Amino acid sequence: MAISRAEAFAPATVANLGVGFDILGLALEGFGDRAVVEFQDDPELVITDIQGDGGQLPREPERNVASVSARAFLNRIGEKRGLRIKLVKGLPLSSGLGSSAASSVAAVVALNKLVGEPFTREELLPFSLEGEALVSGYHADNVAPCLLGGIVLVAGITVEAIRPLPVPENLHLALVTPDFPVPTNEARAILPSNVSLKTLIHQTGRVAQLVDALHRGDLEALGGAMEGDTVVEPARACLVPFLAEVRAAAKRAGAIAVFIGGAGPTLCALCDNRQTAQHVAAEMKQVYCEAEMDSIARHTLVNHVGAEAIELE
Ligand code: HSE
Repeated sequence: MAISRAEAFAPATVANLGVGFDILGLALEGFGDRAVVEFQDDPELVITDIQGDGGQLPREPERNVASVSARAFLNRIGEKRGLRIKLVKGLPLSSGLGSSAASSVAAVVALNKLVGEPFTREELLPFSLEGEALVSGYHADNVAPCLLGGIVLVAGITVEAIRPLPVPENLHLALVTPDFPVPTNEARAILPSNVSLKTLIHQTGRVAQLVDALHRGDLEALGGAMEGDTVVEPARACLVPFLAEVRAAAKRAGAIAVFIGGAGPTLCALCDNRQTAQHVAAEMKQVYCEAEMDSIARHTLVNHVGAEAIELE
């Protein structure tokens, strides 16, 4: 039966996982963005409402990631009708939690539902990427786990290059997001354009270790690999307030490893049980409290499902 309106939820994601810049990412349980889409006779594409962004996101359809992704989808299926899009942001902007990916993915998953699901979840990747590219270029380390859930290897930006990786059963995460936006394009501009052969060998070795640790369910080895980044995190450390202090507090509270979530400033701590993750999250937040800086702390798990259409009544 044809439907006139569709809604979807897309989860938060963490890209890079420390050492896997632009090639590794995971989806997070419990929070994300929602999009509601409906056709209109007018051929325009309109953002009718955005909730939860404090008025910061562009409403112009050519500048909003959700409408740019939706436009790519509509062009591909040759749809001439226009679209109304409403966004409900559950994710803070420029926080390292995949906010732009979540809005892009929520819009295309809702749109796919609206037109009878002609595309598989994987096939929605190119459309979602168009929105993400508007903010920070063509890399799929947020979009792919957002669409598919789990921990994902993104060896390129085509559907064939996306591979799910095993998620160790006892993998828990503690997160803290200071109220200190770090625009992704700025965090990318600060990175070195070249690395030495020695650095390349070290970095690829850590990525290989990380993938192996996931396959063996070895959280200690996973944490060592995550913290082995000698290229991206050192360059970005200056963008994340109190990184050293938060890392030290998390380790004292039992975290195995701490790494910058995506482009930051969210910091993610790898833990091996729920109670520790809860405690680590509180201790990381305490560092920002003492510095009189607002922050949000969470403890969570990997989301295994990815984005989902929501049944409307
Ligand atoms: N891999 C990306 C980065 C994720 O670190 O810049 C943020 O979009």
